[in-house]
Amino acid sequence: MKLITDNKEYADEYLKSTTNPESFWAEQANDFVWRKKWAAVLQWDFNTPEVKWFLGGKLNITENCIDRHLPTRANQTAILWESNDPVETSKKITYQQLYEQVCKVGNMLKANGVKKGDRVCIYMPMIPETAYAILGCARIGAVHSVVFAGFSSGSVADRINDSGCKVLLTSDGAFRGDKSINLKSIVDEALLKSPSVEKCIVVERTKVAINMQTGRDAWWHTEMQNAPTVCEAEEMDAEDLLFILYTSGSTGKPKGMVHTCGGYMVYVGYTFKTVFQYKEGQLYWCTADVGWVTGHSYILYGPLLNGGTSLMFEGVPSWPDMGRFWQVIEKHKVNIFYTAPTAIRSLEKAPISFVEKYNLSSLQVLGTVGEPINEEAWQWYNKNIGKHNCPIVDTWWQTETGGIMISPIAGITKTKPSFATLPLPGVQPAVMGENGKEMEGNNIEGRLTIKFPWPSMARTIYGDHQRFKETYFSTFPGKYFTGDGCKRDEDGYYRITGRVDDIIIVSGHNMGTAEVESAIDEHSAVCESAVVGYPHDIKGQGIYAFVVTYEPVHEETHLRNEIKEVVSKIIGPIAKPDKIQFVSGLPKTRSGKIMRRILRKIAEGDTTNLGDITTLLDPTVVDEIKSGAL
Ligand code: PRX
Repeated sequence: MKLITDNKEYADEYLKSTTNPESFWAEQANDFVWRKKWAAVLQWDFNTPEVKWFLGGKLNITENCIDRHLPTRANQTAILWESNDPVETSKKITYQQLYEQVCKVGNMLKANGVKKGDRVCIYMPMIPETAYAILGCARIGAVHSVVFAGFSSGSVADRINDSGCKVLLTSDGAFRGDKSINLKSIVDEALLKSPSVEKCIVVERTKVAINMQTGRDAWWHTEMQNAPTVCEAEEMDAEDLLFILYTSGSTGKPKGMVHTCGGYMVYVGYTFKTVFQYKEGQLYWCTADVGWVTGHSYILYGPLLNGGTSLMFEGVPSWPDMGRFWQVIEKHKVNIFYTAPTAIRSLEKAPISFVEKYNLSSLQVLGTVGEPINEEAWQWYNKNIGKHNCPIVDTWWQTETGGIMISPIAGITKTKPSFATLPLPGVQPAVMGENGKEMEGNNIEGRLTIKFPWPSMARTIYGDHQRFKETYFSTFPGKYFTGDGCKRDEDGYYRITGRVDDIIIVSGHNMGTAEVESAIDEHSAVCESAVVGYPHDIKGQGIYAFVVTYEPVHEETHLRNEIKEVVSKIIGPIAKPDKIQFVSGLPKTRSGKIMRRILRKIAEGDTTNLGDITTLLDPTVVDEIKSGAL
């Protein structure tokens, strides 16, 4: 694959990718191993919507991630695993070992009745077995559905049920900082509600005492023991499903975004190399969890497709102390470091001695992802971590896009703090105005859409194509609507300004306000609630809940804690509201719609400029809410 080496080449490649997208992407696809070449590069219609890439092409992504590297890289580390506990020895998993483990998992899954097209849920911590599990599914053509191991039993059950998973892969527990979480007990609860799961296979990690249900549950090490180390890769059609990954929606239940084999492989392989300018021998570390799309695309698939070495970290940035990330960088001599603005902001608050203690001179490229990075955090990262010597790639993309869409190319694109800068080759953004028309020129602000398909875009929402169409292709017919607002400045650089729908991004994680509200409403004292985001120093956005109770509240703190507990139980700890204000009513229009605009303003602490409130059914509630604002 050709690396872009300067701005002129970027401009040339970009032009090529827009004037003749099919030949551009065919050229990129030629860098991969196909069992059978595609008959046509692209077929698309954004109205239906239907998108197919590399039609008729046959491949297996694991052959591209592993097998093809074996002749030259069998002994190179593919995954460098660093434990939660700094005292535990790190593990170097070579490409040869990865090959054997992935094959064993493939065989183990087959022995447990999993066939091509079956869905397998993976609810596991950041341990090497999770990588084997994901790739093992891909090896045999099973569709992986990874659920972040911080979600509650209810969330796991919903996701398993939505896609009808046949097997669940999990672990006894997870270490996270000084905590040990009993994952299997969460799974046991989930499985009471998930009848499609026939087998639950459990990795031993924390050695906590767990229940094993005879017939249904089995230990990973027992199942893997005799599994052969060779497993023929299943031949997949380019448009066969590779994985499902759930993301929050602004209304209703989470959406199972469907990604397919061929286009995802080509795009993620291409963007990993292009954005980070990954070079032979470099050690790359992405701090995301594999439970999110960043982990899928840029801990596993992207680096492995490029024969890279990817560091996988089980722990958290703050344990044993706030220097853990920097200690890991020094220990392993990390060259490329990719993290989230929320992590940067929290580490920035710690004494600088935590950074200064370590030698970070191995670093060459820094990246951020998941939410807008404020200028101050960007400058801190640049100065203290990059020592003004490492380009920062602020990468904008989504679960739906599969891969990075708008981002600087490391060391080539001139960066500007808080700007994701320019679209990658193959990405055609369009900024839409209030009138629903595309805005031309620069110095504009509007809604971000993409007007031409790219290979790794989600093809549908699992089991609900209509919702896919309504959510992404109906606001601006003929265009993919991202849900984000953006500015395009005088240089044509994009700055993502945040969500324009009812999704809040908390510590880089998407939260649907409707989902949080319905969890809060489960508390027996709660009549109704409205949730909005507000600026939060570390998390980017915090969750602010306005709650109406049936009876006047006497013990506010007690009820707040109970509500947080309920939300934590229903969705997971990441969805716990930061602030809960009890109110006697919500500002509603005559038609009964909650005016979130007003609540957002109040949550932001801006109570002077609430705009027109005359259309409210009862404008007096606004004064009450204002005076009780937290
Ligand atoms: O609002 C944008 C924000 O995160 C959303 C996508 O979230 P998710 O599907 O969880 O994927 C996160 C990891 C790719 C986007 O709609 N977002 C992501 N990256 C950036 C960002 N906002 C601003 N700048 C970014 N670099």
